[in-house]
Amino acid sequence: MKKILVTGSLGQIGSELVMKMRDSYGADNVIATDIRKSESDVVHSGPFEILDVTDEKAMFEIAKRHQVDTVVHLAALLSATAEARPLLAWNLNMGGLINALEVARELRCQFFTPSSIGAFGPATPKDRTPQETIQRPTTMYGVNKVSGELLCDYYYHKFGVDTRGLRFPGLISCITPPGGGTTDYAVEIYYEAIKQGEYTSYIAKGTYMDMMYMPDALNAIIALMEADASKLKHRNAFNVTAMSLEPEQLASEIRKHIPNFKMHYNVDPARQAIAESWPNSIDATAAIEEWGFKAEYNLEKMTQEMLVKLGQNLSLTGAK
Ligand code: SER
Repeated sequence: MKKILVTGSLGQIGSELVMKMRDSYGADNVIATDIRKSESDVVHSGPFEILDVTDEKAMFEIAKRHQVDTVVHLAALLSATAEARPLLAWNLNMGGLINALEVARELRCQFFTPSSIGAFGPATPKDRTPQETIQRPTTMYGVNKVSGELLCDYYYHKFGVDTRGLRFPGLISCITPPGGGTTDYAVEIYYEAIKQGEYTSYIAKGTYMDMMYMPDALNAIIALMEADASKLKHRNAFNVTAMSLEPEQLASEIRKHIPNFKMHYNVDPARQAIAESWPNSIDATAAIEEWGFKAEYNLEKMTQEMLVKLGQNLSLTGAK
Protein backbone atom coordinates (compact mmCIF):
# COMPACT_ATOMS: atom_id res chain seq x y z
CA MET A 1 0.00 0.00 0.00
CA LYS A 2 1.86 3.07 -1.23
CA LYS A 3 -0.87 5.14 -2.87
CA ILE A 4 -4.40 4.41 -1.76
CA LEU A 5 -7.77 5.40 -3.25
CA VAL A 6 -10.62 5.37 -0.72
CA THR A 7 -14.28 5.55 -1.79
CA GLY A 8 -17.00 6.56 0.66
CA SER A 9 -14.34 8.37 2.65
CA LEU A 10 -16.77 10.60 4.57
CA GLY A 11 -18.70 7.62 5.96
CA GLN A 12 -18.39 5.99 9.36
CA ILE A 13 -15.31 3.88 8.52
CA GLY A 14 -13.77 6.13 5.87
CA SER A 15 -13.64 9.29 7.96
CA GLU A 16 -11.36 7.57 10.49
CA LEU A 17 -9.50 5.20 8.16
CA VAL A 18 -8.36 8.01 5.86
CA MET A 19 -6.89 9.98 8.79
CA LYS A 20 -5.13 6.91 10.17
CA MET A 21 -3.74 5.94 6.77
CA ARG A 22 -2.57 9.50 6.10
CA ASP A 23 -0.63 9.31 9.37
CA SER A 24 0.99 6.01 8.44
CA TYR A 25 1.46 6.28 4.66
CA GLY A 26 1.74 10.07 4.17
CA ALA A 27 -1.07 12.59 3.66
CA ASP A 28 -0.52 12.88 -0.10
CA ASN A 29 -0.65 9.12 -0.56
CA VAL A 30 -4.27 8.67 0.49
CA ILE A 31 -6.75 9.93 -2.11
CA ALA A 32 -10.07 10.37 -0.34
CA THR A 33 -13.25 10.42 -2.44
CA ASP A 34 -16.95 10.75 -1.73
CA ILE A 35 -20.11 11.77 -3.56
CA ARG A 36 -20.25 14.99 -1.51
CA LYS A 37 -17.89 17.40 0.19
CA SER A 38 -18.03 18.34 3.85
CA GLU A 39 -16.09 20.29 6.44
CA SER A 40 -14.43 17.05 7.59
CA ASP A 41 -10.65 16.87 8.14
CA VAL A 42 -10.69 14.19 5.44
CA VAL A 43 -11.37 16.92 2.85
CA HIS A 44 -8.69 19.33 4.10
CA SER A 45 -5.82 17.11 5.25
CA GLY A 46 -4.86 15.62 1.87
CA PRO A 47 -6.10 14.97 -1.68
CA PHE A 48 -9.90 14.82 -1.94
CA GLU A 49 -12.04 14.25 -5.05
CA ILE A 50 -15.78 14.14 -5.60
CA LEU A 51 -16.67 10.68 -6.93
CA ASP A 52 -19.93 8.87 -7.62
CA VAL A 53 -18.89 5.19 -7.49
CA THR A 54 -21.49 4.24 -10.10
CA ASP A 55 -19.41 6.26 -12.61
CA GLU A 56 -16.62 3.85 -13.59
CA LYS A 57 -14.95 6.27 -16.02
CA ALA A 58 -14.61 8.91 -13.32
CA MET A 59 -13.27 6.36 -10.82
CA PHE A 60 -10.74 5.05 -13.34
CA GLU A 61 -9.64 8.59 -14.27
CA ILE A 62 -9.03 9.58 -10.62
CA ALA A 63 -7.23 6.31 -9.83
CA LYS A 64 -5.01 6.60 -12.91
CA ARG A 65 -4.21 10.29 -12.43
CA HIS A 66 -3.06 9.64 -8.85
CA GLN A 67 -1.28 6.40 -9.86
CA VAL A 68 -2.82 4.45 -7.01
CA ASP A 69 -1.72 0.89 -6.19
CA THR A 70 -4.51 0.15 -3.69
CA VAL A 71 -8.29 0.59 -3.78
CA VAL A 72 -10.26 0.62 -0.52
CA HIS A 73 -13.89 0.55 -1.56
CA LEU A 74 -16.20 1.65 1.28
CA ALA A 75 -19.11 3.42 -0.46
CA ALA A 76 -22.31 1.43 0.20
CA LEU A 77 -25.78 1.58 1.71
CA LEU A 78 -26.21 -0.17 5.09
CA SER A 79 -28.78 -2.83 5.89
CA ALA A 80 -31.90 -0.91 6.96
CA THR A 81 -31.66 1.62 4.11
CA ALA A 82 -30.95 -1.17 1.65
CA GLU A 83 -34.05 -3.02 2.85
CA ALA A 84 -36.17 0.12 2.42
CA ARG A 85 -34.73 0.82 -1.07
CA PRO A 86 -33.62 -2.56 -2.47
CA LEU A 87 -33.19 -1.53 -6.11
CA LEU A 88 -31.09 1.49 -5.19
CA ALA A 89 -29.04 -0.77 -2.89
CA TRP A 90 -28.41 -3.29 -5.66
CA ASN A 91 -27.40 -0.58 -8.13
CA LEU A 92 -25.16 1.29 -5.70
CA ASN A 93 -23.68 -1.59 -3.71
CA MET A 94 -23.09 -3.96 -6.62
CA GLY A 95 -22.56 -1.32 -9.34
CA GLY A 96 -20.01 0.50 -7.17
CA LEU A 97 -18.23 -2.73 -6.29
CA ILE A 98 -17.85 -4.02 -9.83
CA ASN A 99 -16.56 -0.62 -10.96
CA ALA A 100 -14.01 -0.56 -8.15
CA LEU A 101 -12.92 -4.14 -8.96
CA GLU A 102 -12.54 -3.23 -12.64
CA VAL A 103 -10.35 -0.25 -11.73
CA ALA A 104 -8.24 -2.55 -9.51
CA ARG A 105 -7.97 -5.09 -12.33
CA GLU A 106 -6.98 -2.55 -14.98
CA LEU A 107 -4.47 -0.72 -12.80
CA ARG A 108 -3.21 -3.86 -10.98
CA CYS A 109 -4.17 -2.59 -7.54
CA GLN A 110 -4.53 -4.38 -4.23
CA PHE A 111 -8.18 -4.28 -3.17
CA PHE A 112 -10.19 -4.12 0.06
CA THR A 113 -13.93 -3.95 0.62
CA PRO A 114 -15.87 -4.74 3.81
CA SER A 115 -18.36 -7.55 4.07
CA SER A 116 -20.57 -7.92 7.14
CA ILE A 117 -22.35 -10.19 9.61
CA GLY A 118 -25.23 -9.34 7.26
CA ALA A 119 -23.77 -11.91 4.84
CA PHE A 120 -25.33 -14.58 7.09
CA GLY A 121 -29.00 -15.50 7.33
CA PRO A 122 -31.58 -17.47 9.33
CA ALA A 123 -30.21 -20.86 8.20
CA THR A 124 -26.67 -20.00 9.42
CA PRO A 125 -25.62 -21.49 12.79
CA LYS A 126 -26.34 -18.64 15.26
CA ASP A 127 -23.59 -19.08 17.84
CA ARG A 128 -19.88 -18.94 17.08
CA THR A 129 -20.80 -18.86 13.39
CA PRO A 130 -17.90 -20.52 11.53
CA GLN A 131 -15.82 -18.88 8.80
CA GLU A 132 -17.25 -21.27 6.23
CA THR A 133 -20.93 -21.99 6.67
CA ILE A 134 -24.38 -21.56 5.15
CA GLN A 135 -24.84 -18.06 3.68
CA ARG A 136 -28.45 -17.58 2.61
CA PRO A 137 -29.24 -14.03 3.84
CA THR A 138 -32.82 -12.76 3.56
CA THR A 139 -32.01 -9.04 3.21
CA MET A 140 -30.95 -7.09 0.11
CA TYR A 141 -27.87 -5.93 2.05
CA GLY A 142 -26.99 -9.56 2.75
CA VAL A 143 -27.55 -10.53 -0.87
CA ASN A 144 -25.18 -7.70 -1.85
CA LYS A 145 -22.57 -8.78 0.70
CA VAL A 146 -22.56 -12.47 -0.31
CA SER A 147 -22.48 -11.52 -4.00
CA GLY A 148 -19.66 -9.11 -3.19
CA GLU A 149 -17.63 -11.77 -1.40
CA LEU A 150 -18.05 -14.11 -4.37
CA LEU A 151 -17.21 -11.40 -6.87
CA CYS A 152 -14.03 -10.45 -4.99
CA ASP A 153 -12.93 -14.11 -4.87
CA TYR A 154 -13.73 -14.35 -8.59
CA TYR A 155 -11.51 -11.36 -9.41
CA TYR A 156 -8.71 -12.98 -7.39
CA HIS A 157 -8.96 -16.38 -9.08
CA LYS A 158 -9.78 -15.17 -12.58
CA PHE A 159 -7.66 -12.03 -12.89
CA GLY A 160 -5.16 -12.27 -10.02
CA VAL A 161 -6.45 -9.12 -8.29
CA ASP A 162 -5.21 -9.20 -4.67
CA THR A 163 -8.68 -8.86 -3.10
CA ARG A 164 -9.13 -9.03 0.70
CA GLY A 165 -12.15 -8.48 2.93
CA LEU A 166 -13.53 -8.58 6.46
CA ARG A 167 -16.99 -9.53 7.69
CA PHE A 168 -17.45 -6.64 10.09
CA PRO A 169 -19.86 -6.73 12.99
CA GLY A 170 -21.61 -3.53 14.13
CA LEU A 171 -18.95 -0.82 14.38
CA ILE A 172 -19.07 1.58 17.31
CA SER A 173 -17.35 4.95 16.97
CA CYS A 174 -17.37 8.50 18.30
CA ILE A 175 -16.42 10.50 15.19
CA THR A 176 -18.91 9.87 12.36
CA PRO A 177 -22.24 8.21 13.18
CA PRO A 178 -23.29 5.30 10.96
CA GLY A 179 -26.46 5.78 8.93
CA GLY A 180 -29.17 3.31 8.05
CA GLY A 181 -27.71 0.23 9.74
CA THR A 182 -29.34 -2.32 12.03
CA THR A 183 -26.54 -2.15 14.60
CA ASP A 184 -26.65 1.68 14.79
CA TYR A 185 -28.48 1.46 18.14
CA ALA A 186 -25.18 0.51 19.78
CA VAL A 187 -23.74 3.88 18.71
CA GLU A 188 -26.87 5.98 19.31
CA ILE A 189 -27.10 4.73 22.89
CA TYR A 190 -23.82 6.48 23.79
CA TYR A 191 -24.87 9.78 22.14
CA GLU A 192 -28.22 9.75 23.95
CA ALA A 193 -26.70 8.66 27.27
CA ILE A 194 -24.53 11.77 27.21
CA LYS A 195 -27.11 14.17 25.76
CA GLN A 196 -30.32 12.96 27.49
CA GLY A 197 -29.38 10.38 30.11
CA GLU A 198 -31.79 7.96 28.47
CA TYR A 199 -32.23 5.96 25.26
CA THR A 200 -35.12 4.24 23.50
CA SER A 201 -33.82 1.16 21.71
CA TYR A 202 -35.39 -0.02 18.45
CA ILE A 203 -33.72 -3.42 19.00
CA ALA A 204 -35.38 -5.68 21.58
CA LYS A 205 -33.87 -6.72 24.88
CA GLY A 206 -32.02 -10.03 24.55
CA THR A 207 -31.12 -9.64 20.84
CA TYR A 208 -27.44 -10.48 20.52
CA MET A 209 -25.24 -9.17 17.71
CA ASP A 210 -21.48 -8.87 17.31
CA MET A 211 -19.87 -5.46 17.79
CA MET A 212 -16.41 -3.91 17.53
CA TYR A 213 -14.90 -0.56 18.50
CA MET A 214 -13.64 1.43 15.50
CA PRO A 215 -9.91 1.47 16.42
CA ASP A 216 -9.93 -2.34 16.29
CA ALA A 217 -11.70 -2.27 12.91
CA LEU A 218 -9.13 0.13 11.45
CA ASN A 219 -6.23 -1.95 12.76
CA ALA A 220 -7.85 -5.06 11.29
CA ILE A 221 -8.13 -3.50 7.82
CA ILE A 222 -4.48 -2.44 7.83
CA ALA A 223 -3.24 -5.74 9.31
CA LEU A 224 -5.12 -7.74 6.68
CA MET A 225 -3.89 -5.54 3.82
CA GLU A 226 -0.30 -5.78 5.07
CA ALA A 227 -0.50 -9.55 5.68
CA ASP A 228 1.77 -11.88 3.76
CA ALA A 229 -0.36 -13.21 0.89
CA SER A 230 1.16 -16.68 1.19
CA LYS A 231 -0.39 -17.05 4.67
CA LEU A 232 -3.97 -16.37 3.48
CA LYS A 233 -6.11 -19.43 2.93
CA HIS A 234 -9.23 -17.26 2.85
CA ARG A 235 -9.71 -13.86 1.27
CA ASN A 236 -13.31 -12.68 0.97
CA ALA A 237 -14.13 -12.32 3.65
CA PHE A 238 -12.78 -13.06 7.17
CA ASN A 239 -15.06 -13.20 10.22
CA VAL A 240 -13.87 -10.62 12.79
CA THR A 241 -15.46 -9.65 16.09
CA ALA A 242 -14.66 -8.16 19.49
CA MET A 243 -17.85 -8.76 21.50
CA SER A 244 -21.33 -10.21 21.26
CA LEU A 245 -23.85 -7.87 22.93
CA GLU A 246 -27.54 -7.32 23.59
CA PRO A 247 -28.96 -3.89 24.51
CA GLU A 248 -29.20 -4.47 28.29
CA GLN A 249 -25.47 -5.17 28.51
CA LEU A 250 -24.67 -1.83 26.90
CA ALA A 251 -27.12 -0.10 29.23
CA SER A 252 -25.65 -1.61 32.38
CA GLU A 253 -22.09 -0.82 31.29
CA ILE A 254 -23.11 2.81 30.65
CA ARG A 255 -24.73 2.91 34.14
CA LYS A 256 -21.31 2.30 35.68
CA HIS A 257 -20.45 5.82 34.44
CA ILE A 258 -23.90 7.46 34.32
CA PRO A 259 -25.76 5.80 37.23
CA ASN A 260 -29.16 7.32 36.38
CA PHE A 261 -29.11 6.24 32.73
CA LYS A 262 -32.54 4.93 31.68
CA MET A 263 -33.25 2.45 28.93
CA HIS A 264 -36.62 2.22 27.11
CA TYR A 265 -37.74 0.05 24.23
CA ASN A 266 -39.79 0.82 21.14
CA VAL A 267 -38.94 -2.05 18.83
CA ASP A 268 -38.81 -1.33 15.09
CA PRO A 269 -40.15 -4.51 13.44
CA ALA A 270 -38.11 -3.97 10.26
CA ARG A 271 -34.72 -3.65 11.95
CA GLN A 272 -35.59 -6.26 14.59
CA ALA A 273 -36.33 -8.78 11.82
CA ILE A 274 -32.97 -8.04 10.21
CA ALA A 275 -31.19 -8.44 13.57
CA GLU A 276 -32.93 -11.76 14.21
CA SER A 277 -31.78 -13.10 10.85
CA TRP A 278 -28.11 -12.46 11.79
CA PRO A 279 -25.80 -14.49 14.07
CA ASN A 280 -25.60 -13.97 17.85
CA SER A 281 -21.82 -14.31 17.72
CA ILE A 282 -19.27 -15.17 15.04
CA ASP A 283 -16.02 -17.13 15.24
CA ALA A 284 -12.87 -15.25 14.17
CA THR A 285 -10.41 -18.19 14.37
CA ALA A 286 -9.44 -18.05 10.68
CA ALA A 287 -8.52 -14.33 10.96
CA ILE A 288 -6.55 -15.00 14.15
CA GLU A 289 -4.64 -17.91 12.63
CA GLU A 290 -4.02 -16.59 9.12
CA TRP A 291 -2.99 -12.98 9.79
CA GLY A 292 -2.98 -12.44 13.55
CA PHE A 293 -6.28 -10.57 14.05
CA LYS A 294 -6.63 -9.22 17.58
CA ALA A 295 -9.20 -6.90 19.16
CA GLU A 296 -7.95 -4.66 21.97
CA TYR A 297 -11.29 -3.33 23.16
CA ASN A 298 -13.94 -5.19 25.15
CA LEU A 299 -17.24 -3.66 26.29
CA GLU A 300 -15.73 -2.16 29.42
CA LYS A 301 -12.74 -0.49 27.76
CA MET A 302 -14.80 0.70 24.79
CA THR A 303 -17.51 2.24 26.98
CA GLN A 304 -14.99 4.09 29.09
CA GLU A 305 -13.33 5.60 26.02
CA MET A 306 -16.56 6.28 24.09
CA LEU A 307 -18.08 8.25 26.94
CA VAL A 308 -14.98 10.38 27.45
CA LYS A 309 -14.25 11.06 23.77
CA LEU A 310 -17.86 11.53 22.74
CA GLY A 311 -18.40 13.82 25.74
CA GLN A 312 -15.51 15.97 24.55
CA ASN A 313 -16.69 15.98 20.91
CA LEU A 314 -20.27 16.87 21.84
CA SER A 315 -19.26 19.68 24.16
CA LEU A 316 -16.99 21.08 21.43
CA THR A 317 -19.88 21.17 18.98
CA GLY A 318 -22.22 22.55 21.63
CA ALA A 319 -24.58 19.57 21.28
CA LYS A 320 -24.26 18.48 24.89
N1 SER B 1 -23.54 -2.33 10.73
C1 SER B 1 -24.13 -2.88 9.55
C2 SER B 1 -25.59 -2.67 9.52
O1 SER B 1 -26.19 -2.67 10.56
C3 SER B 1 -23.86 -4.34 9.47
O2 SER B 1 -22.82 -4.58 8.65
O3 SER B 1 -26.14 -2.55 8.46
